[in-house]
Amino acid sequence: MANRMWGGVFGVAPDEILEEINASIGFDRKLYAEDIAGSKAHAAMLAKQGIISAQDARKIARGLDTILSEIKRSKFKFSRALEDIHTHVEARLKDLIGPAAGRLHTARSRNDQVATDFKLYVRNAIDATDAALAELQKALAKKAARYAATVMPGFTHLQTAQPVTFGHHLLAYVEMISRDRGRFADARKRLNESPLGAAALAGTSFPIDRYRTAKALGFDRPAANSLDAVSDRDFVLETLSAASITAVHLSRLSEEIVVWASPSFGLVKLSDRFTTGSSIMPQKRNPDAAELVRAKTGRVIGALVQFFVVMKGLPLAYSKDMQEDKESTFDALATLSLVLAAMTSMVRDLSPDVARMKAAASEGYSTATDLADHLVQKLGIPFRESHEISGKIVAKASKAGIPLEKMPLKEMQAVDPRIPKSVLSVLSVDRSVESRKSYGGTAPKNVRREAEKWLKRLGK
Ligand code: ARG
Repeated sequence: MANRMWGGVFGVAPDEILEEINASIGFDRKLYAEDIAGSKAHAAMLAKQGIISAQDARKIARGLDTILSEIKRSKFKFSRALEDIHTHVEARLKDLIGPAAGRLHTARSRNDQVATDFKLYVRNAIDATDAALAELQKALAKKAARYAATVMPGFTHLQTAQPVTFGHHLLAYVEMISRDRGRFADARKRLNESPLGAAALAGTSFPIDRYRTAKALGFDRPAANSLDAVSDRDFVLETLSAASITAVHLSRLSEEIVVWASPSFGLVKLSDRFTTGSSIMPQKRNPDAAELVRAKTGRVIGALVQFFVVMKGLPLAYSKDMQEDKESTFDALATLSLVLAAMTSMVRDLSPDVARMKAAASEGYSTATDLADHLVQKLGIPFRESHEISGKIVAKASKAGIPLEKMPLKEMQAVDPRIPKSVLSVLSVDRSVESRKSYGGTAPKNVRREAEKWLKRLGK
């Protein structure tokens, strides 16, 4: 019988379609390094506890090293009949070292084994993601420092609202990504308890040392409840949630790049390295990478939704349903890694059209709030009243087709005779952003300081 793992009570080989639906080797082979690391830690612990001989443990360790190098060099034969990575490694170990291989699975089950392997895999992915997020923050903060005083239109409802600086806008994403990193760090902290030694679900009668294997594998401690240890997939859901929120952030930035780069806005330019052409329209410069970062968000959120649905009805402890945690998670994590790399390169590549930004910032009466604020300060009137007066002035300017800063003083005074001459100095977009010095505000001075703070924190 092909399956040497659980063949004992079975008289007939599994149906081919069972074998097909059951096998996970097509995707869980990705876990080979984690599986071997887990087995080495387990075997060393078994020997230390006198559960297997030191000689067998040495043979097992050497055999596992051989398997690791065989898989790395693509010299390893995978077959669907052997179901999953755990069975493959153990079967090959038997070929290599004989009966001692059969002692490795003492006080262990594939249930705690797979939970351990997958936690190790996800933990590595979290660490790689964090490094990639820090790179993106650095790219954004560098650009923010450079364009700390570059005025652009700030939008609400995608309608021109108030002038902001391009640097300020980019730093908003640095903050968002900082929270993303916090979520991944939290997920990592909670993930970092070892399932190994929980065995099938109830623990084991062997005198194992779960603290030792936990430590050897970089876990903070063993998971306290054996049932929970084998049936917990919170770490997958939590990591995919963090990944989804990150993907949404990247998607929003992508959308902005797509909008900004559209000739109708013309606020930024991507170089030839980050645009594609059209096969029919010679003038086109399409921001494909930004569009794809936006689109791939669907895959990441899809993985989260898929696995929520898998988990929602499962009784404790392990059910084979949980094997469906892997493919979509692998895909989501690889996708996130790709879109992060693409976004970081795009941010580095991006250049603002400074003149166009400033012109656009001046359109749409973006300094109307500055006008209203000034009247409050100078005339001591309530903001609601100054809002009303400013609205009338905007309507008048709009009717005349001129920007606010070109409005003659007497035209404004015709709306309200109390309007002081000093108003003329507050209507430019530069003056507007400069005045927003409140904590977290868009003033170039603030932006420069914040960008420097981030660059220092991120190690430039
Ligand atoms: N391939 C399985 C998985 O990924 C490993 C655990 C199988 N355990 C079992 N009792 N069938 O979940």
